[in-house]
Parts: sequence; structure tokens; C-alpha cells
Amino acid sequence: MLILGIDTSCDDTSCAVVRDGRQLLSNIVSSQTDLHAKFGGVVPEIASRRHLEVLIPACSEALEQAGVALSDIDLIAVTNGPGLLGSLLVGVGFAKGLAHAAQVPLIDVHHIAGHIYANFLGETLPEFPALNLVVSGGHSELILMESHGRFTVLAETRDDAAGEVFDKVAREIGLGFPGGPYLDRLAEKGDADKIPFPLPRIRGSKYDYSFSGIKTRALLEFEAGDKTEEFKRDLAAGFRKGVVDQLLNPVEELIRETGARSLAISGGVAANMLLRRKSQELAAKLDIPLFVPPRELCTDNGAMIAAAGYYKYQMTGSSRPQKENLLMECSAGLELQSWGEDI
Ligand code: KG4
Ligand code: ZN
Repeated sequence: MLILGIDTSCDDTSCAVVRDGRQLLSNIVSSQTDLHAKFGGVVPEIASRRHLEVLIPACSEALEQAGVALSDIDLIAVTNGPGLLGSLLVGVGFAKGLAHAAQVPLIDVHHIAGHIYANFLGETLPEFPALNLVVSGGHSELILMESHGRFTVLAETRDDAAGEVFDKVAREIGLGFPGGPYLDRLAEKGDADKIPFPLPRIRGSKYDYSFSGIKTRALLEFEAGDKTEEFKRDLAAGFRKGVVDQLLNPVEELIRETGARSLAISGGVAANMLLRRKSQELAAKLDIPLFVPPRELCTDNGAMIAAAGYYKYQMTGSSRPQKENLLMECSAGLELQSWGEDI
């Protein structure tokens, strides 16, 4: 089965062609970074207008690179939330039109389910139950997957997401946009013990995250510091270690408690070098296989949506009549639900 996956949830226009949920044939990501950089953040109106301009060329290119025609596509999968509403509307509207014109079934995919399924693109698949750490610009969650499409959120952030604090601290230090990758590279050259960031205490929950304290602390340290290159490197290193330590802190106990047989990390922040190294060490210590997508599949892409769409369609596709596709809605704050319960 050939699946065309489309994601326009934020500021990247992405289209990909995937065979049978695991074989990547093409993955086109048209980044809008340059358009938003001068504003220091994503401007929603600019993002949705740009999606309108580049979505058709991006899909044509994805088909061309995969060496297939639209008539070869068996299923179209599209992100219908969460994300920026205007951006989501462009992708969903386009996917509906394309599916209707080509008489191809359409399936909606939750963006977080998409990130999780980036780890299913490949030869070896995570074994269930799988513990997923999903870390992006908008989310920091630990999600247990008992089987395909069965999601249980075990921990989430009480305030900011990990990617969001990386971006805010990086902006303050004067790094590029989005800041996560810049701060990561700067931290590689710093000493993480010079300015330590201890784990926060979170009242009322054993596993939830909170990143606003560490962000404020980094901003205050920066304000008080001498702002030399060495100081910036050490601050970036200490801050990065603080975020990564917090992200991995509940993992060992949750793996024991849930009996998870694999650990999978996904989302834009999964590209972080320290998180990749430390999760490798943790998985080795726990003697559990670790899955982390290649960097280009950590950040937003259409391939992960196609992969998730494939498995979801196997479970729910036949229950949704073709004409109901035109009623598909998108939502900026869409909740993650297990498949079959989200219609
Ligand atoms: O998954 P994604 O592309 O979009 C959302 O769904 O939010 O994640 C983007 C986020 C941004 O905050 C970006 O700074 C962060 O992922 N990111 C990183 C790294 N690469 C991307 N954060 C830390 N270290 C990185 N190497
Ligand atoms: Zn994302």
C-alpha cells in the first residue's frame, strides 16, 4: 500500500510517500525558518499563507522523488491537530480535495501519534508495550503504547514544553532560530558542571515535568553573568543537562512499573545530542532496546504521518465511509486518543 503523508501543523510544509507504513520512498520538508527568523518565533498568518503556496509543489515533488503518480496512491494521511489552526486548515483542506478528486481514502492523524510512528519507519520495529518519550516544541510527554494505536499518557509537562524552553533560552543568549539545535551545538563545547541546574520538585505528581523554573533560572543566570563566550557555553551546557536529566528521570521507574519492552524517543528535541547519548546509556543499563529516529525524522515531516496513517487505517479505515472524509475537522488543541475512540 502506498501512502501519501501530509503535515502542515506548524511552520514546515511536509509531504512524503511511504510504502506499507515502513518503507520511506520520499520525504519533502519545505522549511519556513527564514520567514519567521526575523520575528524570533513562528508567525501564524505567515505560516498558513506559506503552506498555501508550497503545499502543491511539495506534494508533486514527493510523488516525483518516489517515482509514483497520484493514481498509484492508495491512502492519504493528514495531520488534523494539534497545531496552529490556520496551518492545519490548509493541510486538511488540501488533503480532502486531493482525496476526493483522486477517489482515495483519507485518514486523519494526531501529530503526536505521528511523531511516535517515526520510530516505525524502518526494518526493526519497537516491541510492545513501548514507552515513548515525545519531546517537541509543543509537547513533553511519556506515552505508553500497549499495541498499535493504544496510547496512555503517563506524564506530561505542567507548563512549558522542552523545545519551547530550548528556543526561549537560545533566543535570550542571542542564538539563531529555532534555538534548540544552536543551543545544543553550543552546549557541546561547554562545561555542564560550572552552572548546575538541579531537578525541580513537582507537587502532586511523581512523573510530570515542569520546565518553566529551569527556563527562568537560565534567563536570570544569563542576566547576571559576564556574557563571555565561555560563560555562554557553560550556561548552555548546564541548562541542556538540566532539561535532559529531567526528561529521562522518570523513565527507569516507569519501565519497571509498566513492563515496557522498548524505549522510543521522538519529536524535534529527540535530535538533541545529549538526549540521544544519555538515552542510549540508560537503555543499555536497563538492557532494553532504544529507538530514536534519524534527525530528519525527529522534526516535523510527512513520513511519520504516513506511517501512523497506515496502521490507523488498518484498524479504523473501513469504519469510515468515503463521503465522511469531507466532514473531517481539525483542531488546534486536539487530544491524543486511542484509535477507534477518536472518531
Ligand atoms: O517536532 P518539532 O519539529 O515541532 C513541533 O511539533 O513542535 O519540534 C521542534 C522543536 C523546536 O523547539 C526545536 O528547537 C527543537 O524541536 N529542536 C531541538 C533540537 N533540534 C530541534 N531542541 C534541542 N536540541 C536539538 N538538537
Ligand atoms: Zn512536531
